[in-house]
Amino acid sequence: MASRKPIVAGNWKMNGSVELVTSMADTLKNASNNKIDVLIFPPFPLLSKALESGIVAGAQTVSQEDAGAFTGEVDAKLVAELGCKYTLVGHSERRSIYGESNDDVAAKFEKAQQHNLTPILCVGESEEQREQGLTESVVSEQINAVINKLGVAALVNSVIAYEPVWAIGTGKTASPEQAQQVHKFIRDEIAALDVVVSQNIALLYGGSVNDQNSELLFAQADIDGGLIGGASLKPNAFVNICNSAQRNA
Ligand code: PGA
Repeated sequence: MASRKPIVAGNWKMNGSVELVTSMADTLKNASNNKIDVLIFPPFPLLSKALESGIVAGAQTVSQEDAGAFTGEVDAKLVAELGCKYTLVGHSERRSIYGESNDDVAAKFEKAQQHNLTPILCVGESEEQREQGLTESVVSEQINAVINKLGVAALVNSVIAYEPVWAIGTGKTASPEQAQQVHKFIRDEIAALDVVVSQNIALLYGGSVNDQNSELLFAQADIDGGLIGGASLKPNAFVNICNSAQRNA
């Protein structure tokens, strides 16, 4: 019997303000989300404010190194000490703009878990890769970088977010069928190694999710919530998205 709980996570990227944390906290307080987990990934300087305001919050990335002489980097241990439970690893913007390789992402995944943070591993293909029929091989390579390093059991305390690069910030979301197809592929790949792990891991969809398309996406059998970028900066839209996950839980 699967025990996965849907998650709706807002990725604020390099956006947001102290004021937005306050209005998000107020809006979320009035929402009823007892069947799902709701969290946000604000920029680092807003983490304490978000946590103090009663929002579950996590880091957008962490260093693969332990504390030391790494100017500008952030230590997973410190993120955990603040009271965070989650971190994103391998978001496509980290991969494409900051050159994070699959090996770097696997190292960050490991570091996060060492400090009791649940990594949300982001995977997804570019438009060109999809057109070339490479979606499945790209996604499985990204996931296998973690499995080969840490074993399939490492997925127990983790989440995977499938975010096709061509759908991020473009308004061009994957159709529910396209998303479900990749989610099922991911779950089947994990099931080939460990059925229990595959049934329990939450698989989130991300890429132009908004409060108009979330209901149908979250109704898919293998979609357990979403990683929301642009729409997570609008408290009312974000709560509407949470509500659709709650209805489909
Ligand atoms: P988007 O971003 O919802 O703005 O497409 C999603 C993400 O990058 O996590």
